[in-house]
Amino acid sequence: MLVSAKEMLTKAKAGKYAVGQFNINNLEWTKAILQTAQELNSPVILGVSEGAGKYMCGYTTIVGMVNGMIKEMGITVPVALHLDHGSYEHALKCIDAGFSSVMFDGSKYPIDENIEKTKEIIKIAAEKGISVEAEVGAIGGEEDGVVGGGEVADVEECKMIASLGVDILAAGIGNIHGKYPANWPGLRFDVLEEIGKATDPMPLVLHGGTGIPADMIKKAISLGVSKINVNTECQLSFSAAVRKYIEEGKDLEGKGFDPRKVLAPGVEAIKATVKEKMELFGSVGKAN
Ligand code: 13P
Repeated sequence: MLVSAKEMLTKAKAGKYAVGQFNINNLEWTKAILQTAQELNSPVILGVSEGAGKYMCGYTTIVGMVNGMIKEMGITVPVALHLDHGSYEHALKCIDAGFSSVMFDGSKYPIDENIEKTKEIIKIAAEKGISVEAEVGAIGGEEDGVVGGGEVADVEECKMIASLGVDILAAGIGNIHGKYPANWPGLRFDVLEEIGKATDPMPLVLHGGTGIPADMIKKAISLGVSKINVNTECQLSFSAAVRKYIEEGKDLEGKGFDPRKVLAPGVEAIKATVKEKMELFGSVGKAN
């Protein structure tokens, strides 16, 4: 059964570790992430961007697939199905479809409008026990068509949004979706520390998990980050592994063209990436 992200993240914050949100793109992706979470006895959050939602034939298809997998694969660790960077309309669609968590990304609105819309989503989600993530200060870079300028969050705005009753707060602290440029100055720990103090005990989210060095991840967790989003890194390891298979001509040997065989190295690569992240985030063994 899918669960809200609230309880697992409250536990993570108290236990000083973080739960990974891994974005999904298809059946193979979802299976690889669920299998790894189960093997490592770790809670997990499956992230779905609006673009990936459309690609996978809509939110009800995804809910059906994930619920089916949880049952058929005997998954017992806590799993949240979460809309990533949702617009107001898509947050409502996901709540209707059976998601257990939604992010309403109102960072593009003026703060007053962000507050109004966030309040409405909270009210509707609360009736169904669904957790809500809000964002203050835009995450830089581009993810599935969502482009952010990389503004660092304002501490007072974080306090205001946190007080509305959201369960999880994403704050821009110099993090970027996708690969980090060579001249990236790093995370703004000074800002994170202030936000952490102003919003405690709210679990904080670090978007743009791909490519952040391990020491920065650990420091972010020590300052209140309890959810870390990873997307690009799984895509990179998946495509590198599938490319290797093709380049080695394995698809030309025997029945090597079978799509299940072509994609299998990609699935293993995702599993390895997810395992590495769960170990780094400290969520291994924290399912119960
Ligand atoms: P990356 O693609 O940089 O890992 O970011 C993922 C993310 O923040 C999803 O919201």
